[in-house]
Amino acid sequence: MPDQNPRQLGTRQLAINPAFFQDIKEDREELLFIEGRMKYLLGNSALFGENLKEFCELTELFRDQLALHFALEEAYGYFEEALEVAPRLHRKSKTLRAQHADLFERAQGLCEEAYRKPPLENEALAERARELVRSFDEHESAEMELIQSALNEDVGCGD
Ligand SMILES: [Fe+2]
Repeated sequence: MPDQNPRQLGTRQLAINPAFFQDIKEDREELLFIEGRMKYLLGNSALFGENLKEFCELTELFRDQLALHFALEEAYGYFEEALEVAPRLHRKSKTLRAQHADLFERAQGLCEEAYRKPPLENEALAERARELVRSFDEHESAEMELIQSALNEDVGCGD
C-alpha cells in the first residue's frame, strides 16, 4: 500500500504523507499539553511559586518533547513535498527550520536554569520561560502559515 496520497494538479503535485501527519499530530498534542500546563503556572506568580518543582519537571519534558517534535519535522523532509509546488516559500522554510536549533538551545537553557543551585529568582525564571513559549508559539504559527500558503499556491497554480 503506498504511503502517500498525491493530489495531481497538472504537472504539480502536493503529496501528503499520512505517517507524517499522524506522528506530528500525536507529538504536537503532547507538546501542547506540556506547554499549556507551563503557561497555566506562568499565568499566576503565586501558583508558579507553589508549584516550582512541577515547573522544573515541565521544563525537562518540554525540552525532550521539543527535540522529538523538531526531529520528526526534519526527518519527514520538513514540508519539502508541499514546498515543491511553491518554490518561493523555500527561503521561509529554511528560516523556520533554522529556528529549531535556537529554540531547542533555549529550552535546554531554561531547564538548566530551573534546576540551578542556587536557584534563579522565580520571576527571572518565569520571564525566561514566557519568552521561550512566546517564541515557540510564533514559530508554530509561522509554520502553519507556510503550509497554508503552500496549499493555496498548489490550488491556485495548477499548470
Ligand atoms: Fe518547526
